[in-house]
Amino acid sequence: MYTETENYTPLDCGDSPTDGGQQFLERSCGIINAGAQAVMISIGHRSGLFDTMAQLEPATSQQIADQAVLAERYVREWLATMVTAMAEHYPQSRFSGYDLCDDAIAEATHMAEARGLHNIRFAALDMTNFDEPESYDFITSFDAVHDQKHPAQLIASIQRALKPAGIYLMQDIGGSAQLEKNLDFPMASLLYAISAAHCTPVSIGQGGEGLGAMWGWETAQTILNQAGFASVERHFLEHDPMNVWFVSRKEQYHVS
Ligand SMILES: C[S@@+](CC[C@H](N)C(=O)[O-])C[C@H]1O[C@@H](n2cnc3c(N)ncnc32)[C@H](O)[C@@H]1O
Repeated sequence: MYTETENYTPLDCGDSPTDGGQQFLERSCGIINAGAQAVMISIGHRSGLFDTMAQLEPATSQQIADQAVLAERYVREWLATMVTAMAEHYPQSRFSGYDLCDDAIAEATHMAEARGLHNIRFAALDMTNFDEPESYDFITSFDAVHDQKHPAQLIASIQRALKPAGIYLMQDIGGSAQLEKNLDFPMASLLYAISAAHCTPVSIGQGGEGLGAMWGWETAQTILNQAGFASVERHFLEHDPMNVWFVSRKEQYHVS
């Protein structure tokens, strides 16, 4: 997911002949969206979804649904409301989301359109060919680098895609690259199994390196260090033992 913040008209709810008409449409769209969010927040409260998520580690929609004893398909739709509400909370920003899979992009596009969001776009893209120099203020990836075709190539192109003051936030699985250090890692067997059944073949199937979910924070750190960032910070969060978080700046940050 990427954001860009300059020279952007926040919300376009359709053609309007006058400024007043446009403002009315924007305000109406905003009220309707906020109303929908309020309903979904209430549903999240009454169904226990917020309470369930507060007790879980970062989880998939299926895991949340299982824990809450709810149907996954509806939980996924509810989660989408919460996520797209973010784009509404930052109307001065533009968001772009890329993934290799057409079906994931089609669903994300559909959800954004259903919510009347015009500051977010999704596109199917093989990120191996990602080449948008100095285009973004902030780039994020969540669990998405280890199963790319060529992770180091992707990180280098992300570094290039940032504007000079840009920041890359990367979350990925926080296991070690050395098997013997993962014996006590949370859900290690499951992660190796998912890696074998999904992450590794996704990459190798593209002719890639197949680093897998347990590629190790050391591998991620090395790749980030070699990508040309001015600084790379690594964070392990107490409440999130399964993941590692990296904050990488394209240029050195100066406090004035
Ligand atoms: C483990 S999933 C994580 C997706 C998402 N961040 C999430 O949490 O649901 C990794 C994603 O990387 C995508 N991917 C793999 N290779 C890719 C490539 N070459 N270009 C773009 N996306 C790719 C897969 O399609 C998959 O959706």
